[in-house]
Amino acid sequence: MSSMKAVRIHAYGSPDVLTYEDAPRPTASEGEVLIRVYATSVNPFDCAVRAGYMSAYFSYSLPLILGTDVSGIIETVGDGVTDFGPGDSVYARAGVTRDGAYAEYVVVPASDVAAKPQSLDHINSAAIPHVILTAWQALIEVADLSKGQTVLIHGAAGGVGHLAVQLAQWRGAEVIGTASVNLDFLRELGVDETIDYSTTRFEEVVSEVDVVLDLVGGDTQQRSWSVLKPGGILVSTVQPPSEEAAAAHGVRQQFVSSTPPIGKVLTEVVTMVDAGQIKPVVSTILPLQEIRKAHELIEGRHTRGKIVLRVVN
Ligand SMILES: NC(=O)c1ccc[n+]([C@@H]2O[C@H](COP(=O)([O-])OP(=O)(O)OC[C@H]3O[C@@H](n4cnc5c(N)ncnc54)[C@H](OP(=O)(O)O)[C@@H]3O)[C@@H](O)[C@H]2O)c1
Repeated sequence: MSSMKAVRIHAYGSPDVLTYEDAPRPTASEGEVLIRVYATSVNPFDCAVRAGYMSAYFSYSLPLILGTDVSGIIETVGDGVTDFGPGDSVYARAGVTRDGAYAEYVVVPASDVAAKPQSLDHINSAAIPHVILTAWQALIEVADLSKGQTVLIHGAAGGVGHLAVQLAQWRGAEVIGTASVNLDFLRELGVDETIDYSTTRFEEVVSEVDVVLDLVGGDTQQRSWSVLKPGGILVSTVQPPSEEAAAAHGVRQQFVSSTPPIGKVLTEVVTMVDAGQIKPVVSTILPLQEIRKAHELIEGRHTRGKIVLRVVN
């Protein structure tokens, strides 16, 4: 069996369990493609898997390769794959319940793959899948955000947030965003109203919004009920909002834990990216070998846009 370099965990724990080492190179089965990974990115989800929190929801077997984003070139395709062939430049959502993209090669179902944006390199393309699918599910599928509505985005400067801002702008909504050290970034993104959560209680300056996108959870989520207009919706990616609190405030709530059809939405996003409507922002690029540093950075909770891992120079 041929081998490859990969970052694996053999036990759950701190970033120290992330080990750059040789691992078996996977092969594509029916309906799957094998991608030569050029870049992958880091998401808080990866840290939750690494720490063992996601084992309650998914049955992982160790050693495990993390990483849910990939941009690269198709090496081989499995039986029945007709949409893609060797040599195609693609980006995809990988991993989640199986070995992921912190590696030289990853296998992904062909349904979760799309042709890479032509206007972006692999580094910037790898920044997109996980976070755009989350933002899309929250704002387009669940909230059905529309022109003229107002959305308050908590955590607007992070991975999900900075693309959620752009999706909301594309839909013609007014965007209010919270951040602290990354407030200037929100202004660069064209956020209509910025709030420094470290100095201002947002519920004292915001009211009557149609949608709250909660990318923070905890106390921030609980204080969000009062800023919604009647019939509005609180959508959280962090923790299920209280049904009782929503009913008491005459609003709706939804926890986002699924994705829209992956390949279909990633293909639609390519059109938007190549038209200049969506632009990922990569603040940090590290070689895959520096994965521990990447996890420590994202766990610091002040990421601006995305942290991307370079696999091929
Ligand atoms: N359910 C799902 O399917 C799903 C999918 C994707 C993500 N998620 C979850 O969604 C959350 C966001 O993900 P992400 O990738 O966007 O994370 P991220 O990139 O790590 O978010 C970092 C950003 O959070 C901001 N922030 C930190 N504390 C804040 C606070 N109290 N109020 C407002 N902003 C705050 C920071 O702004 P400053 O630096 O300016 O302070 C920073 O820009 C995570 O908890 C993640 O696990 C869930």
